[in-house]
Amino acid sequence: MAILRQSALIWCRKFSKRDLLTASVGLTLILFSFSFLFSFSKNTVVFTLNNSNFVPLTLLFNAKDRGAFCLDGSLPGYHFDKGYGSGSSNWVLHIEGGGWCESVATCSLRKKTALGSSNHMEQEVQFSGILSSDPARNPDFFNWNKVKIRYCDGSSFAGHPESEFHNGSGLFFRGQLIWEALMDEFLSMGMSNARQALLSGCSAGGLATMIHCDDFRAKLPKAAIVKCLADASFFLDEEDVSGSRTMQLFYNNVVNLHGVAKSLPTDCVAKMDPSLCFFPRQIIGSVKTPLFLVNPAYDFWQIQHVLVPAASDLPGEWRRCRLNIQKCNSHQMDILQGFRNNLLKALSEFERSKGKGMFINSCFIHCQTWMETWHGPNSPRIYNKTIAETVGDWYSEKEDAKRVDCPFPCNPSCYNMDFMRS
Ligand SMILES: *[C@@H]1O[C@H](CO)[C@@H](O)[C@H](O)[C@H]1NC(C)=O
Ligand SMILES: *[C@@H]1O[C@H](CO)[C@@H](O)[C@H](O)[C@H]1NC(C)=O
Ligand SMILES: *[C@@H]1O[C@H](CO)[C@@H](O)[C@H](O)[C@H]1NC(C)=O
Repeated sequence: MAILRQSALIWCRKFSKRDLLTASVGLTLILFSFSFLFSFSKNTVVFTLNNSNFVPLTLLFNAKDRGAFCLDGSLPGYHFDKGYGSGSSNWVLHIEGGGWCESVATCSLRKKTALGSSNHMEQEVQFSGILSSDPARNPDFFNWNKVKIRYCDGSSFAGHPESEFHNGSGLFFRGQLIWEALMDEFLSMGMSNARQALLSGCSAGGLATMIHCDDFRAKLPKAAIVKCLADASFFLDEEDVSGSRTMQLFYNNVVNLHGVAKSLPTDCVAKMDPSLCFFPRQIIGSVKTPLFLVNPAYDFWQIQHVLVPAASDLPGEWRRCRLNIQKCNSHQMDILQGFRNNLLKALSEFERSKGKGMFINSCFIHCQTWMETWHGPNSPRIYNKTIAETVGDWYSEKEDAKRVDCPFPCNPSCYNMDFMRS
């Protein structure tokens, strides 16, 4: 389990760094002496450096009185970029991802990082993808009020202080309180008069989006159009390749440690073990607000942590495949196709429901909404629409907007991560 957490942390660190750069394809980021890059199916360089869109960190001072603290007791934070023109009464929020911590040991490590303490957060981050203020890169939301919410509680904003130990471990489980303090702050900044709003998030932030979506809706004016978008967060309750329930065990530990059950849908918790209700498949059935899911069918985080966690592959047969989908042999590819089939099966009821949208592309990637993969001439497409165009069509109810890609390797517009190159 330590391995699971560790690499989750590394992934997030890489991408929060990436957030600081509008990286060019092929730009290698070296962190934790581990490098990676995008391998792009066409050999074109797409992204240009643009340093004009950095947004400063704001600490949530109203959090102090309410005890809404990060894991280490510091104040939570967010980044705010004011809307203008036709977007001045509209709000798009994006919740940062970053895995979870499931034990005293892993939460104690986390509280020494930006994912557990505002003392370690960057003073400014670059807004790109769904947070970009460039209409060419973000056609629907560029001039809205834009907020990036920093993730520092380790439980997808669903922890409760009743679970704290009071024995000197010095860990604060205040996820739910942070969520409430953040909402009050944004409401007081003008969100209480919002005409349109979109709550979004990626990975653990996408899970937080699903958990809090209906509450977000309830806090905004009745006349407002309010929707939610969860990216790369449809975590599956699947066995790993060695037959262990790695993800179920991990979620069980997270839910018990942080006391998450109180933040989960009551109808689910009444029916089954609360830790199962932390899986999106259970949550989406309870969400009444219109919801859109962006998810790669071969989400590399899920392949590396749910389907083939390191401990499930002691012989090392999957070593290359889990780092680069092009290196999978035909037997491994069959297993990945099975994983995709199970994702689609888990989404079949969702797919039939009204007001829902989805973009399930066949790429080996993780988050796609807050990066340049969101929208651009070379962004991934399904039936020639980018993620931003599909989400835009769904948000404005132009079309039903349910797009599912053909299986790998059919889509040449994919970015496929390659963790082997350095
Ligand atoms: C950089 O981005 C801003 C908006 O975010 C845009 O107005 C500007 O034209 C861009 N500059 C370049 C060189 O692409
Ligand atoms: C506090 O209690 C928890 C749960 O019993 C335990 O895991 C942890 O090690 C304790 N911490 C300290 C500092 O005693
Ligand atoms: C795909 O969409 C782009 C612009 O969105 C358009 O220029 C292009 O012609 C379309 N291609 C096809 C094959 O429809």
